[in-house]
Amino acid sequence: MQTISPDLKNQFKKVTDEKNLRGKKILLRLDLNVPVIGDDIRDDFRIRKSLPTLEFLRNAGAKTIIISHLESDLTDSLSRVAAYISKFIPLKAFVTKLDEALAVVETMAEGDIVMLENLRQNPGEKENNPVFAGRLASLAEIYVNDAFAVSHRDHASIVSLPRLLPSYAGPLLSEEIKALSKAFNPPRPFLFIIGGVKFDTKLPLIEKFLDIADYVFVGGALANDIFKEKGYEIGRSVVAQSGINLKHVEMNPRLIVPADVITVSTLSKGAKSLDLIGPDEKIVDAGPRTIDQIADLLNDVKFVIWNGPLGDYEKDFSEGTENLARALVESKVETIIGGGDTIACVRKLGLLDKFSFVSTGGGAMVEFLAKGTLPGIDALKTS
Ligand code: 3PG
Repeated sequence: MQTISPDLKNQFKKVTDEKNLRGKKILLRLDLNVPVIGDDIRDDFRIRKSLPTLEFLRNAGAKTIIISHLESDLTDSLSRVAAYISKFIPLKAFVTKLDEALAVVETMAEGDIVMLENLRQNPGEKENNPVFAGRLASLAEIYVNDAFAVSHRDHASIVSLPRLLPSYAGPLLSEEIKALSKAFNPPRPFLFIIGGVKFDTKLPLIEKFLDIADYVFVGGALANDIFKEKGYEIGRSVVAQSGINLKHVEMNPRLIVPADVITVSTLSKGAKSLDLIGPDEKIVDAGPRTIDQIADLLNDVKFVIWNGPLGDYEKDFSEGTENLARALVESKVETIIGGGDTIACVRKLGLLDKFSFVSTGGGAMVEFLAKGTLPGIDALKTS
């Protein structure tokens, strides 16, 4: 069992004094949105990161009511996640119907933990419906948000509950804010690495870090838009749907793009210089010279933040991302990583614990870095 670090325990105690938690009913918002395939939990990172908070509340004698969402095409039930959690910490009940929750909560003893079914089974969650929020709030006396990874959503359990109950940031949320805030006052030189897709959503982040960081490396499909802007042939490669103006990004001297790429066509697959890409080819990954390019840079930098894969990770073009992970670990430079695909890759390599901090957030990490806050954090501040 992981234990809560003294530092986090203090942060948590400051806001929810341990002796005052005894017997208190706490609505604990976690992000347990993990890949569930059949009976299998494919990646338990978010669950493991939530366990110290549960253990802490149990030891403090609180009555903890876990609420979370799950977004999956395969199942809309958190029952497998509840079963998985109970391997580490006892759950008194998994409550499938919100109508029945109040009766279950009445039976809870000090230190008990119950878990409610997927919040998103009720449309009121995503609609931020006040009646739904009120029904949740009626179950408890205190609300704790420990769900950094979904705190970018204006959903009922994130932004409305803090208006209805005395509310606090949990230790995992506090830890994420503390770690990621280092990006705004970083050790230098600072290298920001961003990959993946969706230039439209990531452009504000790239623009911001072109101001803050000493180097901004843009990889993944995001780089295709920049190659296009630079006038390279990119064949059938993925680009942003909307025609966005990237001149200011492309011209910025802090911007670095892959030196070479892996392309596929019906006839071939291989590493290519940017000027050799044909019209029938598709860029699917960063090439080996790109990894050397970043490894060189790592001799110079003191701090790295990395979010997003360098290749089409879901289609198994993962070599660039894996080699980047290895290069970062070998460099021993202080590095913060995040994003679902990035973490899945690093986890597969067994390197998760080699990074200084691993964020549970995907979209939330990107939005927090871009804006310095999230709707869920603002809601706690104004509660
Ligand atoms: C995530 O996986 O990024 C969070 O759980 C948020 O999920 P969502 O994108 O479905 O809101």
